[in-house]
Amino acid sequence: KNIAIIMGGYSSEYEISIKSGNVVYQHLDKTRYRSYRVIISSEKWVYLANDGTEFPIDKSDFSIEIHNKKVNFDCVFNAIHGTPGEDGILQAYFELLNIPQTSCNHYQAALTFNKRDLLSTLKPYGIKCATSYYLNLGEPIDEDEIIKTVGLPCFVKANRAGSSYGISKVYERENLKAAIANAFTEDNEIIIESFLDGTEVSVGVITYNNEVTVLPITEIVSENDFFDYEAKYQGKSQEITPARITKTQEANVVRWAEYIYKTLGLKGYTRSEFIFIEDIPYLLEVNTTPGLTEESILPKQAKAAGISLEKLFGSAIDEALR
Ligand code: DAL
Ligand code: MG
Repeated sequence: KNIAIIMGGYSSEYEISIKSGNVVYQHLDKTRYRSYRVIISSEKWVYLANDGTEFPIDKSDFSIEIHNKKVNFDCVFNAIHGTPGEDGILQAYFELLNIPQTSCNHYQAALTFNKRDLLSTLKPYGIKCATSYYLNLGEPIDEDEIIKTVGLPCFVKANRAGSSYGISKVYERENLKAAIANAFTEDNEIIIESFLDGTEVSVGVITYNNEVTVLPITEIVSENDFFDYEAKYQGKSQEITPARITKTQEANVVRWAEYIYKTLGLKGYTRSEFIFIEDIPYLLEVNTTPGLTEESILPKQAKAAGISLEKLFGSAIDEALR
C-alpha cells in the first residue's frame, strides 16, 4: 500500500507537524507500507524524497509523477496540526477524491477544531466547561462585559489554533487588550474563558483492534504559569502518567472522553484536555490530529499502554482502509 504522510500545514504549528510527520515516517511498518512524506504548505504541495528531491503533487487527484510514472495513494496519514489538516478542509478534499484518511471526516474535524462550536455542541449533553465570552475581529471590545462574564484571571485564546499559539493568561484588566490582540494574530475569532483552578489532564482516546480505547491518563504540571508552548515542547512541564487522580475522577473523565469520541463519531487517535474542579472534569478541547513529536503526550500514553508506535499508526491505517 502507498501511504502519503501529510505534514506541514498553513498555520504556526507547521514545524511541530513536520516533527510529528517524521515520527510517523520512522515508525510505519516498512514491510506493509510504502510511505511517502508529503509536505503541504502555503507555498507548495510536494512529495519529499529521501535525497531531498521534491516532486510536485497534482492537486486534481493527489498523485505524483516520479520518473514518468504516476503514483497514486491508497491512504493519507494525516499529521497536520491546525489548518488545513485539522479543521476539515483537507478532510473534505480527500473525501471528494475518495482517498481513505486516518483522521475523522470533514465535519467532525471542523467542529472539534472550533473551540466555541465544540463546547456549545457538547454542553447540552451535560459536559462542564469554563464560562466563556466570544469575540470576532472588528467587533467592539467591551472590557467591562468580558470581566463581568469570565472574571480574573482569565484565558484569552484563538478559537481555532493549537500548541498554545495565541494563548495568554490575564491577571489584570490592563493586560486584556494586548492578550486579545495577540490571540487575533492566530485567528479572527477568539474565546475568553474563566480560569479553572484544578488538576489538568490529557486523555488519549483511540480506536485499537476495532475498539474505542482510553489510554493511561496524563497529568500536566506546568513549571510555567500554564501549559504554554514552552511547557509543551521545551521541557517546561512535568507530565505524569498515570495521573495522580482519584478513582472517581478517573471514572468520570474516562466516561466523558469516551462519550465525546463516540458521540462525535471520531476516528483513529485523539487527545482531549480537561481540568478537574473537585471530581468533575471540565472540557477544554479535543485534538483530532494530536502531536506525535518526541515531546508529545499521546505517543507516551500509547507506550504506557504497551502499544508501540508501529501498532498505533498501523491500526489507524487499518481503520482508514476498512
Ligand atoms: N496541537 C498539538 C500538536 C497537539 O494537540 O498535540
Ligand atoms: Mg489543541
